[in-house]
Amino acid sequence: MILIDGNELADEIKEKLRIEVSELKQNGIHPKLTVILVGDDFASKKYVNNKKMACEYVGIEQGMIELGVNATEEELIMVIRKLNSDESVHGILIQLPLPKHIDVYKIINIINPNKDVDGFHPENVGKLSIGCEGVIPCTPNGIMKLLEKYDIDVRGKNCVVIGKSDIVGKPISMLLLRESATVTVCHIETRDISNITKQADVLIVATGNPGLITADMIKPGVVIIDVGINRNEYDEVCGDVDFEGCKNKASYITPVPGGVGPMTIAMLMENCVKAARGLENKGEKKYV
Ligand code: GUN
Repeated sequence: MILIDGNELADEIKEKLRIEVSELKQNGIHPKLTVILVGDDFASKKYVNNKKMACEYVGIEQGMIELGVNATEEELIMVIRKLNSDESVHGILIQLPLPKHIDVYKIINIINPNKDVDGFHPENVGKLSIGCEGVIPCTPNGIMKLLEKYDIDVRGKNCVVIGKSDIVGKPISMLLLRESATVTVCHIETRDISNITKQADVLIVATGNPGLITADMIKPGVVIIDVGINRNEYDEVCGDVDFEGCKNKASYITPVPGGVGPMTIAMLMENCVKAARGLENKGEKKYV
């Protein structure tokens, strides 16, 4: 079994970006990401802090707008409009989840697609689905970079994705399809899931259920990418996969923590730098 080291690749990427940012600054461009946090969700605060530390490392300026849990949709929309027209801001990130009274899709629609460093705007989602250039969501992009780094070619392989979220499940399915994998997406309504997971050459799990995937559900030699970030009964961070049970049956496996998580942040930094460089989203078709 080979352990897929997300920290190592994320550090390599951030190091390259650090050099790129210092060159941009010499040319008068100061990349800036503004994060909007609504409410006081504990996990969100932690994630936002991790993003802030990465920005500091890479040299990206970080703006932070914190709104109370009772902030209205109108207030949030006004904040986004202001950031859209602020030329010093290259990336806008709205930390999710938003409080329940706010319609997240209405909000995401307001962001200028060129500043949408999460790749959640419908324009970027559409571009991804038809293989055009646009902003790619960070976690799926990070997974593809890990597969590439470890020379795992997905062409023609059975890739099984567990979870159909807009943040991971759907975009990673599109990226795999782009690389000509045979993609199966399972979700909460899927029947006899282990019958499907047993066929997987590459298994990507993003559900938020600790211990969902056990050794009896996988075939020998499978590549396992665990996107889950949960807490176990000892309050330790763990993924969706029973790592100890599966590790000796898999050919490659990501640990949690230290697998996909650091790559999400590295890809966010990359999207910010691209936005600052003004790499235009011409929407050119690049993939079949
Ligand atoms: N909350 C959980 N994951 C994400 C993410 O990738 N982006 C944002 N903005 N919020 C999140």
